[in-house]
Amino acid sequence: MDESRSHGKIILMGEHAVVYGYGAIALPLFSHTVFATVEKSDDDYLISSLYQGKIILAPAQLNHVCEVIKETKKRLEIEEPLRITIDSQIPAGRGMGSSAAVVSSIIKALYQYKKIYLPQEHLLQLVHVGETIAHGNPSGLDGVIVNSKVPVYFKRGKGISPIESKMHGYLVIKDTGISASTKQAVMDVADLVKSDETCRDALDQLGKLSEQSVSLIESGNMVQLGQSMTQAQKLLSQLSVSHPLIDRAVKEAIDVGALGAKLTGGGRGGCVIALCQDEKSRDAVISRWNPADCWVLDLNVRKVKTRAHANIALVKYWGKEDEEQVIPYNSSLSLTLDKLYTDTTIETSETDEFYLNGELISGKEKDKVFRFIDRFRSVSSRKNTIRITSVNNFPTAAGLASSASGYAALATAANRYFNLNLSKRELSEITRFGSGSATRSLFGGFAVWKKESVPYAFEFDRADWDIAMIIVIISQDHKEISSREAMSNTVRTSPFYPAWVESANVDFEQMTLAIKKQDFKTVGEITRNNALRMHASMMAADPPIVYWLPETLSVMKLVDQLNREGFECYATMDAGPNVKVLTRRSQVNVIAERLSLLINRNQMILCQPGEGSVILDES
Ligand code: PMV
Repeated sequence: MDESRSHGKIILMGEHAVVYGYGAIALPLFSHTVFATVEKSDDDYLISSLYQGKIILAPAQLNHVCEVIKETKKRLEIEEPLRITIDSQIPAGRGMGSSAAVVSSIIKALYQYKKIYLPQEHLLQLVHVGETIAHGNPSGLDGVIVNSKVPVYFKRGKGISPIESKMHGYLVIKDTGISASTKQAVMDVADLVKSDETCRDALDQLGKLSEQSVSLIESGNMVQLGQSMTQAQKLLSQLSVSHPLIDRAVKEAIDVGALGAKLTGGGRGGCVIALCQDEKSRDAVISRWNPADCWVLDLNVRKVKTRAHANIALVKYWGKEDEEQVIPYNSSLSLTLDKLYTDTTIETSETDEFYLNGELISGKEKDKVFRFIDRFRSVSSRKNTIRITSVNNFPTAAGLASSASGYAALATAANRYFNLNLSKRELSEITRFGSGSATRSLFGGFAVWKKESVPYAFEFDRADWDIAMIIVIISQDHKEISSREAMSNTVRTSPFYPAWVESANVDFEQMTLAIKKQDFKTVGEITRNNALRMHASMMAADPPIVYWLPETLSVMKLVDQLNREGFECYATMDAGPNVKVLTRRSQVNVIAERLSLLINRNQMILCQPGEGSVILDES
């Protein structure tokens, strides 16, 4: 048996105005779906809640469905009789896209039955056949939105474009129980518009509201979106398409805390929608309206997946002036790498859970991650528990900056999941509480973490010039002492620490100048010297901190030798024994070849500058 599904739709803005060429916005209503199943039979049957029997005997109100079945079977050259079952949760005649969703699920099921790929264009053509019978002169919007994962903006004659939504909160939908004719409402508006100039103005304003709402949806400005909805309701009232019950429902919703409310669809009855910021106002609206008449569209993302790349500092961060506030002693600068990254998913879950590289993490490590998450959750209107799934494509905690990519990916995901809409700079101010170096992984190319009273990170240079880095993996073991503890011990006990801070400050200033001039030699020399000075300061701590292994020294020496031979390569290392070689793209292969005398080639990762953190997927 083959089965297929489509969902309903809700018009958020622009009904009626859309008839006059203005834009309208429709949202997919995932909570209401239609399934169609197709199976071989001895005759053509249609099984639905409205009718069960032979297709040729179906009532006139299902003409559009029968016609679409006939047309699709013809296209697919299906001659055998079929039994088609429709299971729909979308109420008919409520402007929720029921007819388009029903025919579209049937078309999809028939293509699946024949195992033939269905291009979107063919789907829309076939839906149009049904919609023309059901509605006369359909705009084509319903066919698109009942199959779309994202909201769409639609203008008659101009087409349909997807909207990248940052909406959050809830849309509560109430059925007034009054059925009204959209056709009649459209005709009455046409009469009004002919005779009354203020009505023409009202249409114009509705068009403007739709247009502005697109950017409000894209930026996640729910408060203003709610206000625009209420304003649209006033204009629709002026056009005579409201109803006393709609007016009452709108007022009730706003009284109990909705951000805005309006009718949706043709008006004069049908449905009313209210935008709610959080669960509290959602529940208040539902109980005021009567739960039996309400549906809810959850606008929040349920799942978001992000990626952030590791970065290697060329001027290191080593030590906090204020441990609690995570204020570094000096500004640092790094290169983000394309080949090393963490993918992190946050999704709604029954309890707070953290999986790292497939393993369920508990204890202190989990606590630290969720203390970080609470920095987002405590200021969000979403308070629910989540599952975090994080996967590194490289060894974790071996001085390869997994905490940097890990916390950058996590912060990027939390920002989206908890609807905070922070800019990357604002996000960097929170990310530092996970890990200082993670602030730089939010950005691509050369990134700076600037020491300030509230430190922040930014992209300093795109690094789109001849830059590369070879990661030489000497050991994949977890480090014996975390960078957090090691830097704290260095600050407290190393007599060389003040000298480190002084030289790191000079290095930072000179490094920024050298990068601006694309002076690779100076960039490389500062990189090498800065790393060794950092390690000198920690070796002088009590007890001494030595991340080096014998192979670390051998590789460092070989890189120096290659440099003396004229290759442009400089070594750096972090809180672990692995060595990173800053070099030119054009020299990467030769240098890797020479290093392979000491280290197996498959222990090297050849990198180029990488991008900042991104959202890979959301649903
Ligand atoms: O941000 P943390 O706590 O992972 O410390 C990073 C320390 C170094 O990698 C050694 C230097 C740096 O700036 O990345």
